[in-house]
Amino acid sequence: MKCFLAPGLAIVAALTGVAAAPFVSTPTTTVVSEPTGLPSPYAISHHNVTTHGPYRVPATTTGAISTDILASTIAPAPPPPQIVDYPADGQLHGAQPMPYTPSGGIGTNGSLPLYKVASDFDYQSIALALYHEWIELDLFHWGLATFSEDDFQAYGIGAEDRFLLQHMADQEIGHASVLANMLGPSAPKQCTYNYPVSNVREYIDFNQKLTRWAEAGVYGFLPHLNSGPAAQMLLQSITVEARQQMVFRQFGGMFPMPEWHTPGIPQSWAWTLLAPYVASCPENQTRLIWQNFPALYILNQPNPARINGSDVWGEITTGWSNTLSTQGIPDDELCIHSNETGIACQAAIARNRSLPLSYPGREVFLRWDPPGHLVGPNSSYVTTTDAREPRFALWLSQLNVTYTPLLNVSLDARTAYTVQPNVSTWLNDPAVNGTMFLAITDEDLFVTPYNVTMVNPHVAALAVYQAG
Ligand SMILES: *[C@@H]1O[C@H](CO)[C@@H](O)[C@H](O)[C@H]1NC(C)=O
Ligand SMILES: *[C@@H]1O[C@H](CO)[C@@H](O)[C@H](O)[C@H]1NC(C)=O
Ligand SMILES: *[C@@H]1O[C@H](CO)[C@@H](O)[C@H](O)[C@H]1NC(C)=O
Ligand SMILES: *[C@@H]1O[C@H](CO)[C@@H](O)[C@H](O)[C@H]1NC(C)=O
Ligand SMILES: *[C@@H]1O[C@H](CO)[C@@H](O)[C@H](O)[C@H]1NC(C)=O
Ligand SMILES: *[C@@H]1O[C@H](CO)[C@@H](O)[C@H](O)[C@H]1NC(C)=O
Ligand SMILES: *[C@@H]1O[C@H](CO)[C@@H](O)[C@H](O)[C@H]1NC(C)=O
Ligand SMILES: *[C@@H]1O[C@H](CO)[C@@H](O)[C@H](O)[C@H]1NC(C)=O
Ligand SMILES: *[C@@H]1O[C@H](CO)[C@@H](O)[C@H](O)[C@H]1NC(C)=O
Ligand SMILES: *[C@@H]1O[C@H](CO)[C@@H](O)[C@H](O)[C@H]1NC(C)=O
Ligand SMILES: *[C@@H]1O[C@H](CO)[C@@H](O)[C@H](O)[C@H]1NC(C)=O
Ligand SMILES: *[C@@H]1O[C@H](CO)[C@@H](O)[C@H](O)[C@H]1NC(C)=O
Repeated sequence: MKCFLAPGLAIVAALTGVAAAPFVSTPTTTVVSEPTGLPSPYAISHHNVTTHGPYRVPATTTGAISTDILASTIAPAPPPPQIVDYPADGQLHGAQPMPYTPSGGIGTNGSLPLYKVASDFDYQSIALALYHEWIELDLFHWGLATFSEDDFQAYGIGAEDRFLLQHMADQEIGHASVLANMLGPSAPKQCTYNYPVSNVREYIDFNQKLTRWAEAGVYGFLPHLNSGPAAQMLLQSITVEARQQMVFRQFGGMFPMPEWHTPGIPQSWAWTLLAPYVASCPENQTRLIWQNFPALYILNQPNPARINGSDVWGEITTGWSNTLSTQGIPDDELCIHSNETGIACQAAIARNRSLPLSYPGREVFLRWDPPGHLVGPNSSYVTTTDAREPRFALWLSQLNVTYTPLLNVSLDARTAYTVQPNVSTWLNDPAVNGTMFLAITDEDLFVTPYNVTMVNPHVAALAVYQAG
């Protein structure tokens, strides 16, 4: 027996309680690890974005790219027979390709994985995800450069937490590199950005909401990608993004993950929510196919900076993301100035909010923009909708899409209100919770997590809702 195995044996012995074989010599647990000599993959070329703020040059509008359009909607069809017919009885139903390996699966027959996109669907989806990685790379650095240590400290975000923020920014270099490599030379480039943020609390809330729609935006298309290898790479980045989203909730003194399931949203929803914050992109930037929906403003969007977050009117910075504004809120109404359990909201692993941000039966007041606004890189995309008169609020959270009627609809003022539904996923877990999505639609079309995109022709305007 070679003596370098001894430490392993010692561990096994410790776990099993069996006496270890005597060591030949004192085990060495640390040896010099020589570099392999192989080059590490090149990280994508990137820079620190130096200009921020709105794009003010007159727009040269072009809108989303498109090609031949076959129909205005996709007709429902029966499910694939293979799924219908498979008897889910725990028995084996096919010969094994090798030992300990069940028959079936996708990409399991030995065909070499190619880590590249395989269709327009793949390209456009991963290009959209890359836009998100780019903005996060800038946004996380920007906050560190913009706000002072004291500014952060006032929210309980200390030096070690700020290092985590720096680390999360650096992680985006890896994510952007992976996605850009799978797209090839035409991959969208880094842009300049315009953040609706004037202090640390607003910054943390913007990050918390942006990472949620970026995360949910990927979950919406990941299982639909043609390229399994590309999905694999993206999956292994988006799981980190999910952790970032939770950290930003914790930085904001919110309960880290109230929901039992994270929702998926259509690509056009993610692009709608992102584009307003992208100011300009380099010449020849690759353009996207996705729709930009009009902004939905949640007039009484719950404000997690408040002690009573649901007792609120007009405290949003913009439509779409509906991120919180702290402007004009008296100190004694801000939870950051409290030490009381259930109210205090300094950065922490978990905070109990004894006054809920939102609740079933809450009236939610809405206003929306008409289509035709210029948004996105160089103001070169245009908001559009195919919906007729809005009649429903669509609550998208967890595994559920739930509709409630719009009440007191004014088509002139473009306002209405609706009432938060009382729905649950399992047991009594409230379906409407966490950082989620609210749209207004002309129809209450039934969709489920895998076909939620089919609702797009009915969407009139879109927002992030802060339900918990
Ligand atoms: C960006 O700025 C940070 C410091 O804020 C620095 O650590 C980093 O190296 C810079 N990155 C590039 C690509 O210049
Ligand atoms: C493996 O599956 C792929 C995708 O279904 C198929 O294109 C390929 O021909 C298969 N390869 C073999 C060796 O059967
Ligand atoms: C959201 O979930 C948390 C954790 O389960 C729970 O305490 C809270 O009451 C829920 N919020 C709402 C609005 O239902
Ligand atoms: C966007 O605007 C910037 C600054 O005016 C310009 O340099 C760039 O070429 C424009 N990008 C596109 C895609 O037109
Ligand atoms: C943009 O594309 C045009 C036409 O292909 C090319 O001449 C020009 O060099 C490109 N500009 C950049 C910055 O890549
Ligand atoms: C919190 O605000 C809600 C909505 O305005 C109100 O119904 C509730 O009474 C308030 N709770 C407290 C403790 O102030
Ligand atoms: C919170 O607790 C700290 C330390 O006990 C104390 O110095 C501070 O005054 C308290 N703040 C409030 C708002 O009660
Ligand atoms: C936190 O909230 C839960 C659910 O409302 C409650 O059961 C628990 O007692 C609370 N804990 C503290 C320390 O407030
Ligand atoms: C929601 O529904 C549950 C189960 O039907 C019920 O116990 C609860 O009181 C309802 N909550 C509200 C606010 O209506
Ligand atoms: C809805 O409209 C009716 C009639 O104009 C009005 O009485 C009621 O107060 C409105 N409800 C809300 C919640 O604004
Ligand atoms: C929410 O999702 C769960 C799980 O798919 C389902 O059982 C439940 O009926 C849904 N609730 C609503 C109101 O759609
Ligand atoms: C979405 O899928 C569900 C089944 O999960 C189906 O009942 C529904 O009709 C589909 N919706 C559309 C618009 O295709």
